[in-house]
Amino acid sequence: MSMRIVRTIPELRALLKALREGGSRIGFVPTMGYLHEGHASLIRQSTARCDHTVVSIFVNPTQFGPAEDLAKYPRDLERDQVLCQKHGATVLFLPEPSEIYPTGFSTFVEPGELGQVLCGAFRPGHFRGVATVVTKLFNIVQPDLAFFGQKDLQQTVVIRRVVRDLNLPVDIVVAPTVREADGLALSSRNAYLSPEDRQRATALSRGLLAADAAFRAGEQSVAALLALAQKELGEVDELQYLELVDAHTLERTADPIARTVALCVAAKVGTTRLIDNVLLTPDPEAVQFLSHLDAD
Ligand code: PAJ
Repeated sequence: MSMRIVRTIPELRALLKALREGGSRIGFVPTMGYLHEGHASLIRQSTARCDHTVVSIFVNPTQFGPAEDLAKYPRDLERDQVLCQKHGATVLFLPEPSEIYPTGFSTFVEPGELGQVLCGAFRPGHFRGVATVVTKLFNIVQPDLAFFGQKDLQQTVVIRRVVRDLNLPVDIVVAPTVREADGLALSSRNAYLSPEDRQRATALSRGLLAADAAFRAGEQSVAALLALAQKELGEVDELQYLELVDAHTLERTADPIARTVALCVAAKVGTTRLIDNVLLTPDPEAVQFLSHLDAD
């Protein structure tokens, strides 16, 4: 089946209404484009579990700070279209900014404390912009399931909380982080890295994986795990944070590690800001933490 490209909300609503009336289960993958294998994995999960998959590409201005990369965010719509079609998306939603934020737009979704820690401390207003656009997109698409990547762990925690607090009728699925062979988490922003910075960028995943290996081998001390990760992070230009937090609440972890925790890092390599995280699960039986989260 060929993929439909839709640019306006009324056109999308009409198309999805017809699909829903035919009994179709709708999956949704919101993105900002410049798609890579991480996005593709979300689309494939959706097509495996739903009858129709809607992918949106919208570089959301409200989640960028005034000094951030909105104007230069990478774009390649032709390549993105091919990728969406190849992985089985049936609808590609490409709204203009004025379609999402018409003149006079003034209502926002404010995620509170969860949006202020970790990345929120370095990107004021970022999660308010994410929570607002994702709520709007959920209302526009009305999906049964929506798919997000663990790569942006704080984003998934914020969105789950918005869905719970505002009673949005959608189930959230979180999929594992897709990495390059050398460990670097795929990100549209990796396109900004010079060849030399691309090499140094592996420091993030090396740090996280070193701590993960030590944790699996029995290391239980928060300070020791942080120190192990920190040791690998010497090559970055600015370490913004390295924190071990509860994977559900984002609260800082103290010893002993009794629940699934996330080791989260944000750093600049050159002028590019990168983030990554790994989950450390104390119970070896809880192999699939992500499906465990879905049951919440
Ligand atoms: P974007 O950065 O384009 O990411 C879209 C989705 O792809 C997010 O759920 C993100 O976590 C996931 N993703 C990115 N890199 C990944 C990787 N290496 N492995 C697995 N999944 C990965 O996140 C956003 O856009 C925006 O904030 C958005 C939710 C669309 C709201 O504007």
